[in-house]
Amino acid sequence: MKVLVIGKGGREHALAHAAYKSNLVDCVYAAPGNPGMSKFAQCVNISDSDVDRLVSFAKEEKIDLTIVGPEASLSLGVVDAFKKEGLKIFGPTKDATQVESSKDFAKKIMAKYNIPTATYETFDNKEDAIAYVKEQGAPIVIKEDGLKAGKGVTVASTLEESLEAVEIAFSIPNNKVVIEECLFGFEFSLICFVCDDVVIPMQIAQDHKCVYDGDKGPNTGGMGCYSPVKKITPEIIQDAMDHVMIPMAKAMMEEGHPFTGFLYGGLMLTEKGIKTIEFNARFGDPEAEVILPRLQSDFVDVILKVMNHETVELQWDPQVTLGVVMASEGYPASSTKGAIIEGVDQVDGFVYHMGTKMDHDHLVTDGGRVLISVAKADTLEEAYEKAYADVKKIQCDKLFYRNDIGKKDM
Ligand code: AMP
Ligand code: GLY
Repeated sequence: MKVLVIGKGGREHALAHAAYKSNLVDCVYAAPGNPGMSKFAQCVNISDSDVDRLVSFAKEEKIDLTIVGPEASLSLGVVDAFKKEGLKIFGPTKDATQVESSKDFAKKIMAKYNIPTATYETFDNKEDAIAYVKEQGAPIVIKEDGLKAGKGVTVASTLEESLEAVEIAFSIPNNKVVIEECLFGFEFSLICFVCDDVVIPMQIAQDHKCVYDGDKGPNTGGMGCYSPVKKITPEIIQDAMDHVMIPMAKAMMEEGHPFTGFLYGGLMLTEKGIKTIEFNARFGDPEAEVILPRLQSDFVDVILKVMNHETVELQWDPQVTLGVVMASEGYPASSTKGAIIEGVDQVDGFVYHMGTKMDHDHLVTDGGRVLISVAKADTLEEAYEKAYADVKKIQCDKLFYRNDIGKKDM
């Protein structure tokens, strides 16, 4: 089989590597791919947002299966365009992608189908939003409605901070803002293979969203991750499947937005049980980089079976994975590009490229999140030591990282 992975980040690097390991696959293509993927996949110079050229390429090369990484490609309707041409693709339609691309869409469905989540109101004007924030008081959470790469959310601990977030959100014309109750508890990511009402859970990962140690600083796309998560027992996972993931997949069908692809539940274990923080219409990043290396089942075979509405029992490596993101100076507010990176070939574990490119013969930084060093070991403590030992082998004076990935669960 020929498999095409759309995207160029660490998540796509992990998706492509999982496809490459499949016994069913002869050749993996990545569009546009990255220098890490080019070690085992054929990178094609087509942007992940150039839907027409992606379709033409898949037709010309007779690609048997396409797997979509980024939400931006999904939001542009890449799945709709492939399906129109009879091409097999694993991902949600533009319509179903709204579960991520509109917080209001997701919250309305959760409310209608009693899927546990924070209480909320949606606003399209600043005055009403300010009045609501003043009435509710802090802490409170302000979420801009569209796709924000994990950055449109402010968890405000003071009234001043929340009013500032409302001001910023409404400085963007026609913005819609969801304001919700602040939840407290233990966050985790549950990602499922989904096709309509077939929902197959993967193992749990925990992301570290804040930019600095001790969960300080603004939210990012994710600064590090590990899997599995000891605190999240099989009973808790079953509860999350029964009350969140399966009901959501069914609700999407019921509401006329059937979902195919990776459905990502951003969940929180609170004193009042599991609550949904958000849904994403794709694999998590960096969740993919720690979950997929533990999957022992044939990744492509699982996707084909799920798309055929068959249920599958997944096999997992019992070892623990832990990944440390190396990000560019200034991230998430800004990022520096073009800084030379050395030592990536010296690591003992695995390095996924999140934002790199080749500049002449040098690997250089090319984004906010640049690399993730992932280690596998028998214990979380050992995986931590190994992943950080590898981080120290990578030299680049424009990168920084958190020092406490996984510490909360040790
Ligand atoms: P989201 O983009 O919705 O996942 O939000 C980003 C991060 O903000 C989440 O991973 C949480 O850490 C935090 N967050 C979002 N919503 C809430 C909430 N209602 N209560 C507490 N924290 C939240
Ligand atoms: N790591 C969080 C996300 O992919 O949204």
